[in-house]
Formats: sequence, structure tokens, C-alpha cells
Amino acid sequence: MNCCVVGLQWGDEGKGKIVDILAEHSDIVVRYNGGANAGHTVVVGDSRFALHLLPSGSVRPNIICVIANGVAVDPETLIGEIETLAQKDITLNDRLFISENAHLVLDYHKMEDRLREESLGKNKLGTTVRGIGPCYADKVGRSYAVRMGDLTDLDNLKVRLQTIVDYKNKIFSALYNAEPISAAKILEKCKTYAEKLSPFTTDTTQFLHKSIADGKSILFEGAQGSLLDLDHGTFPFVTSSNSSSLGMPAGCGVPAKIVDKFIGVIKAYTTRVGAGPFPSEQDNDIGQYIRDKGNEYGTTTGRPRRCGWFDAVAVSYGITIGAIDCIALLHLDTLSGLKEVKICKAYKIDGQEIAFFPTNAAKLSKACPIYETVPGWDEEITEVSDFDDLPLNAQNYICRVEEMTGKPVTIIGVGPKRNQTIFR
Ligand code: GDP
Ligand code: IMO
Ligand code: MG
Repeated sequence: MNCCVVGLQWGDEGKGKIVDILAEHSDIVVRYNGGANAGHTVVVGDSRFALHLLPSGSVRPNIICVIANGVAVDPETLIGEIETLAQKDITLNDRLFISENAHLVLDYHKMEDRLREESLGKNKLGTTVRGIGPCYADKVGRSYAVRMGDLTDLDNLKVRLQTIVDYKNKIFSALYNAEPISAAKILEKCKTYAEKLSPFTTDTTQFLHKSIADGKSILFEGAQGSLLDLDHGTFPFVTSSNSSSLGMPAGCGVPAKIVDKFIGVIKAYTTRVGAGPFPSEQDNDIGQYIRDKGNEYGTTTGRPRRCGWFDAVAVSYGITIGAIDCIALLHLDTLSGLKEVKICKAYKIDGQEIAFFPTNAAKLSKACPIYETVPGWDEEITEVSDFDDLPLNAQNYICRVEEMTGKPVTIIGVGPKRNQTIFR
């Protein structure tokens, strides 16, 4: 069985936890989009791993991990992650495969991300400043891009880096009055990257197709969420890759039809980091309650996440574009203690009721949520392992989410740990 796990909201839905759990029954886990802007948390016993580039299957010793062509690889972060796992006696040797076609995030990408955000002031996008936008812009622009495979020919890379850095310095100096960066320093770093990462670098498309032919079970791990998708999200407040399941085929060279199940991950409420419209946001005591109880602070940047009620309009949109089969709903435990819980079932925009999610940011920012209010529950549920043992109001809440989204909720999270999971 091949599955693809994607976020259906604005990221941080708990994809890391779900991928880690499903990896137990998989042979291979593949990251196909995004880069170190992702922060996927996996909790194993008392250990907590915050993975940015390594697939969330990596903490299981026998899982093969693939970082496919669609990923923007920050080699420094990746090497750091490989070394952090090695310190915990988890080795990636012979089981990590990085695409030679994956693009590299280099220092000047991160610098450009920061300089641009700073210069935009209050109009900034609120990026993770991990160089993602500038790296993908170079990929699409082609002339100044560097890929993993380029690390195998350092003589050629030296010449190309000089051209690239000359170009970047002219722009950074003219636009931001920035200090010049040194091509030689970047080349030195690239030598280390080559040494440490070349053993893992290969043609991952070929590898995946061979694995499919051999009957291996593959789990595709999306980063970010469907509403942050470059083409289908709330542009420009999105990331720079196709972060819905639509990004999977192009991001790893494998057709979507080999996937047996697309699993959409959602929280029992909604969060968003960075700027952009968020109709059901609760910038009040309710939002703070969720933030505190759910520990809603960014895995990558530590920023407090914006919190709000569950938005069935937004999630249904993610389900529609992503051909989602079933839902994993996490953080149900976070809603314990609320007298009543609200679900956004439609929007009112310019006096008109709308049930299909508008991705146009200007339009969405005018959306007034229309809520259905359901009774909450007081009981803590972090120890519950059976759906029937959940408080009746919590069960009813799940059923209402199913009715509104039209998809079954087959996995429920009641805490960050592996065993704090209910299967139905
Ligand atoms: P991802 O980016 O989608 O992998 O999600 P993150 O790891 O950025 O954020 C999810 C956070 O929620 C992490 O801290 C997880 O450990 C935690 N988490 C996951 N599932 C649950 C759950 O069901 N309940 C609670 N309380 N925490 C959870
Ligand atoms: P995971 O995989 C939540 C958001 C940023 C910003 C926008 C653009 O952990 O769910 P970028 O750095 O990509 O140019 O930032 O996208 N963003 C995320 N928000 N979870 C993520 O990843 C995100 N990756 C990017 O906050 O609003
Ligand atoms: Mg995250």
C-alpha cells in the first residue's frame, strides 16, 4: 500500500507524527516538496525530534528515506540533522537517498529572504527566512541555480558560483546596500557539503520506480499545508512549492495514480504562522487558550502560531484539490475544557454566503465566518485509546467534522506521543 500524507490547513497539522506512525508499516518515506521551512515533530518515548529535511520515517532504523527532486535542500541543516540522529545512534548510512536534481539552498538565498522581508516592513510575508522563496526562484529562473548533482564537479561549480555570486552581489548592493558575499567562502562550504552528502546522492526517480516494481510500500510526506500551496493556496501568503498533494508527482517523479490512499492531516482547530488572511482566527482569550494548551509555537522559528476555530470551508477545499480519501485529526485533546466549540461552515463575503474557499487573498480577507456552535467537553482525553471512550461531545464533534468535510476521520490524536492515537 502506498500512502501520501498532506496537511490540509496552513501547515503544522501534525504530519510528522502521522508519518512516523504510518512508517512502521512502510518500506520507504519520501519528502517531495519544501525545505527546511518545514518542522515536523516526532516524539519517541522521551525523545523529541524536530525534523526539517529528513523524512519523518528517519527515526525508525530500517526505513529508507528519500529526499526527492522537489525538495529545496539546505545542506548545512541536512548535515546537522544527520549528525544529530547519529548522536542518538540512528544512522542514515545506506538508507538515505537524496536526488541529484534537488536544488540547493545556499547562504545567499537565506540572505535574500531576510533582506527582502526586512525591506518589506509591515508588508512582509512572514516567511521562515530559510531561503525557500529565493531558492525556488533560482530553480525556475534556471541560469543561477545549483543542484545536488553539481557538488560532484567542484571545478565547474567554482566557475559557476563566481558568476552567481557576482550577480547576487550587484543586486544585494543596489537594493539593500548589503555587504558583498564571497564566492570562495561558499565554495569552501560546498566542498564540505560534497564530502558529506555525495555518498547519499543519486537518481531518486529511478530508485523509486524500481522500488515500486519491487512491490515496496512507499509513504509520501508532504510539507507545509494545502492552503500554503504556491498555485492553489492563499497567494501571495503561501510558500514557494506545491504543498498540497498536487506537488507529489512532480516533486518525486512518480505518478499520483500509484498512491492508494491520500491522507489529509488536520488539527481540531486551525493555526497559521506568518501573514495572510485567516477567517476563523481568534485573536482573543480563546486563541490564547488554544495556543497555551496546544503549545502552538513554531517548530522551525519558535514564533507563536495564530490560532482559531476549525474551518470546514478551508479544509473541504484542501480535500477537493488533493483528492483526499480520509482524515487524520490531531490535537483533539487541546479543545478539552472549552464550554462550547465552533466550526466555520461557510463565509459571508460582501453580503453573499459562500461555501467554496476563495484563494484570492483580498477576497478571503473580507470573509466573515458563519459558525455552527457545538457543546464542548471538560474531560482530559490524553489517555483515551478507544473512540467509544471519548466524551460524547467529543465524539459528536468528530462526527460533525466528518459530515461537513464528507470524509471519514480514521485517525485521532489526543497527544503528541505515538500511543496517544485513536484508530477507527
Ligand atoms: P507538522 O509540521 O505538521 O509535522 O506539525 P508540527 O510538528 O510542526 O506541529 C505539531 C505539534 O503538535 C508538535 O509539537 C507535535 O508533537 C504536536 N502534536 C501532534 N499531534 C498532537 C496531538 O494529537 N495532541 C497534542 N497535544 N499535540 C500533538
Ligand atoms: P510544516 O511542514 C507552517 C509559512 C511561513 C510563511 C509562509 C512562507 O512544518 O507544516 P516560506 O519560508 O516557506 O517562504 O514561508 O509559509 N510556512 C509554514 N507554516 N508550517 C510549515 O511547514 C511552513 N512552512 C512555511 O510561516 O507564512
Ligand atoms: Mg511544522
